[in-house]
Amino acid sequence: METSEAKTFLDDVIKGLSLAQKQLSPKYFYDEFGAKIFERICSTPEYYPTRTETMILKNNVAEIARKIGPNATLIEYGSGALEKVKIILEALEKPSALVPLDISKEQLKVAAKKIKTEFPHLNVLPISGDFTKPVKLPKALLNAEKQVAFFPGSTIGNFEKEGAIDFLKSVKATVGENGLMLIGVDLQKDRDTILKAYNDEAGVTSEFNKNILIRINRELGGNFNLNNFEHIASYNEEHHRVEMHLRSLAVQTVCISGIKFSFDLNETIHTENCYKYTHRSFSHLAEAAGFFPADYWTDSDDLFTVVLLTSKFRQNSEDNF
Ligand code: AVI
Repeated sequence: METSEAKTFLDDVIKGLSLAQKQLSPKYFYDEFGAKIFERICSTPEYYPTRTETMILKNNVAEIARKIGPNATLIEYGSGALEKVKIILEALEKPSALVPLDISKEQLKVAAKKIKTEFPHLNVLPISGDFTKPVKLPKALLNAEKQVAFFPGSTIGNFEKEGAIDFLKSVKATVGENGLMLIGVDLQKDRDTILKAYNDEAGVTSEFNKNILIRINRELGGNFNLNNFEHIASYNEEHHRVEMHLRSLAVQTVCISGIKFSFDLNETIHTENCYKYTHRSFSHLAEAAGFFPADYWTDSDDLFTVVLLTSKFRQNSEDNF
């Protein structure tokens, strides 16, 4: 990590662990190891979002590609292993470029190199960094016919409401007046199905949650004892969100870069929220950011949805929801 990034990480950790309800930002899950653990979560039998979204994309890709049209530049936010975008790229008519954006530099490098070998004629322009901030596109793309933001995986659910609206607004500014956004959104459903997805039997989500402590130990000279913390994922019915926490199993003091933080027995660090939407609540969110839902696709159990948002209002868009 560069010095300025390490300093921001340390500042954020000190700030978060000094709050009455201790917290750490979920964006710090994704170092090289965290990104790999997340890929393993996606293939656990309990984590339905990835396979459901992939199926929705595969089943509807011809229609999605037709709606996007030819010569589009795809900008994938939080691109990860770039698996889902391949489904779209294969069906698009003459895609002009792919801009993968990801916070995990290592994963971005490997994935961009791989996709270039699979689509040799595609212009691949990876940008690493915090994609929640406005993105400066390479000059070569500014005059592209159509910019399409692709944001799969329901990562929108990891933003707080205001943050989600600000993020969608910044995407809208990036894709411009003719732009589109194709976004995956996890839907509200019975709490059991949701809870199992965040409490997988193999313990991969627990490993993912605790990786943030390992990262603090390694990068910020922390001394968290992992055996003294337990992974917790619960469903908050009022806010329609899964809450992930790390619970202290002892009265303990942890030292990070020379600063001490004390923990009571059962005190928690709140590490992530994963909001679940309805078709209607998500379209309200998108509209608050100036996007309009033009179309959506779902699975037969209505577990997950993929929504196409347009920057311009279309007469019949409201009838879809
Ligand atoms: C990346 N994001 C959409 C995942 C989710 O489901 O909210 C992160 C995750 N956290 C635990 N499991 C998966």
